[in-house]
Amino acid sequence: MKTTISILKADVGSIGGHTRPSARMIASVENDAQQAVSQGLLLDAYVSHTGDDIAIIMSHTHGPNYEEIHQFAWDSFIRATNIARDYGLYGAGQDLLVDAPSGNLRGAGPAVAEVEFDHDPVKTNRGRPAESFMVLAADKCGPGAYNLPLFLGFADPMYCAGLMLPNMIKGFTFHVIDMDNTSGDSMLELNAPDDYYHITALLRDNERFGIDSITSRTHEGQMAAAISAQRLHNVAGTYTGKDDPVAIVRNQGIFPAPEELLSPFAKAHYVGGDARGSHVMPLMPVPINTAVTGMYCLPIVSCIGFSLSTEGKFSDSMVDFFDNPAWDEVRRKAQEKAFAMRDQGWSGAAMLPYTELEYSGFRTTVTNLMERFAVRESTNGTGPAAEKTAQPSG
Ligand code: 13P
Ligand code: MG
Ligand code: MG
Repeated sequence: MKTTISILKADVGSIGGHTRPSARMIASVENDAQQAVSQGLLLDAYVSHTGDDIAIIMSHTHGPNYEEIHQFAWDSFIRATNIARDYGLYGAGQDLLVDAPSGNLRGAGPAVAEVEFDHDPVKTNRGRPAESFMVLAADKCGPGAYNLPLFLGFADPMYCAGLMLPNMIKGFTFHVIDMDNTSGDSMLELNAPDDYYHITALLRDNERFGIDSITSRTHEGQMAAAISAQRLHNVAGTYTGKDDPVAIVRNQGIFPAPEELLSPFAKAHYVGGDARGSHVMPLMPVPINTAVTGMYCLPIVSCIGFSLSTEGKFSDSMVDFFDNPAWDEVRRKAQEKAFAMRDQGWSGAAMLPYTELEYSGFRTTVTNLMERFAVRESTNGTGPAAEKTAQPSG
């Protein structure tokens, strides 16, 4: 049967700052999800949080962008918002940017990632005798936080030896989105390994270009990954919170194995986001349902894995990949990298450049100062360029 995995994620309020949602909020969303399963809208559902973001992970047969499912998640986020308001929590309803979504939560604030595939888990199914997938959720991060690790996992045999196997030897297609083009989804398909350097030329810019999805070149039509690559800043027109992307990544068999996909996360690579969405800090892998209480809103990423039964059930078979002592060393490394960066305070690489500063207040401060600049009389500035008021540089 055609089966879809959907993740809809939103920050609708958190305790004592941008930390985590309350237990009441989570219980409310869990209750809604169970009802949606018993009413037959969903095959199964799993609710979790990463920092202050609540993720609803669902399996169903309705395909991506199905209005009733998006509306269900929206209504559930609204109920959690009301609880956040009742208890005076911070940022109640933060990611719900429109009054009512027009059938699809894409562009309405919540993060969306969806994958549809033929689900027929039998021994004779050579491509997918069993369906397993993982869900990544990151908090205090820019939209391209997965650019580097997912590229390495799907395109570099230094991280994924499986790329040398017949099932993957032709490589993967990266569907790259230009998140600054707000007139619609502006997409470019690039193949790895052929377009290796072209892909990196785009993906190095985590704030503008993101991986939207990854598809197999050996097994055409098989989507390996879907990522919620969008900029909240461009949706809302101003800073309302960081993008905090989620991703669904199918694994094993015709796709890389979890251990291959997760090995790049051992870098604890630097990402934009953190305090006030305006700094640069390393990404720390953490167990699911971790609150953000680290120094300077240290960015975190969770990764849980699932197996999907023939009937589309998965929530009884969950594994928490980063909840393992093996990742303690990476956490320590992330903290060391964080100390090094925070030693630098506001200088240079420690903060995002002017064009990316998320708090419009920072930009206002700089712009107001730029208006006060004047060319010194004793200098030789002549001509039209010298008379122009200086502008903030990107
Ligand atoms: P969130 O996007 O996770 O709400 O964090 C916002 C922020 O500015 C933290 O300092
Ligand atoms: Mg928040
Ligand atoms: Mg968040």
